[in-house]
Amino acid sequence: MLYINVAEKAAREAGEVLKANLGKVKEITFKGKNSLVTEVDKLSEDIIIGSIKRSFPSHDVFAEESGRRSTGSAYVWIIDPLDGTTNYAHGYPFFSISIALEVDGAVKAGVVYDPVKDEMFSAELGKGAFMNGEAIRVSGSTRLDESHLVTGFVHDDESMVEENLKHFGDFIRRSRAVRRDGSAALDLCYVACGRFDGFWELGLNPWDTAAGVLIVEEAGGRVTNFTGDEYSIYVKEILASNSGIHSEMIDVLSMNRSG
Ligand code: IPD
Ligand code: CA
Ligand code: CA
Repeated sequence: MLYINVAEKAAREAGEVLKANLGKVKEITFKGKNSLVTEVDKLSEDIIIGSIKRSFPSHDVFAEESGRRSTGSAYVWIIDPLDGTTNYAHGYPFFSISIALEVDGAVKAGVVYDPVKDEMFSAELGKGAFMNGEAIRVSGSTRLDESHLVTGFVHDDESMVEENLKHFGDFIRRSRAVRRDGSAALDLCYVACGRFDGFWELGLNPWDTAAGVLIVEEAGGRVTNFTGDEYSIYVKEILASNSGIHSEMIDVLSMNRSG
């Protein structure tokens, strides 16, 4: 089976379980002050890893809740079993599953699945981006003052929260609207399909962004750090846009830059 088909199948299997348990979370533990984990995060991760391992037993896995299990394979599946746990734990129906395949350090395929809306976003390197099989494109907006933006806030780093609050204020004053939706993987896919024109966040991890970044780029968008340099899923700042408003967003992000 193709990599993307395996990822989609795993995401759908886990998505069923997320949907069935929405509003029924029994156990919340904390990785940090506002960094929640539920029993459903772990269940979803077990389902996804089991499903992928059945097709590719020799591939490695790097998953949020169980970490990196490395045997030295060039193929690494990067998994966020539930992106938007805080939303989920409060019964707020905006969350996703993110699965990406990294080969020799480069992301080659990725899916992000929203089980509530049954929207499957997917991309393979060089082959375009899709939602439920239909090609998607970023928006054509070229003006920040007409743009619909989204961001997120890291849970446990006070200095990053401070920095992002400044950015938030600067963008609120210069765009049409700024949202804070609570699932970075879906935020990226919404940029990819034109529902948002731009997204920025500090402090994300590889499992949050690996699939979504590929989907944005394959949909014609641009992804960099805050100064416009090449993005890596292993660095802590991300700016993703439709490309038309990218330089205006960089200008705003540089207004409050310390150091
Ligand atoms: C979180 C979400 C959220 C973002 C946080 C992430 P999680 O992931 O993507 O939108 O603002 O920084 O940690 O913890 O729900 O998988
Ligand atoms: Ca996440
Ligand atoms: Ca998660």
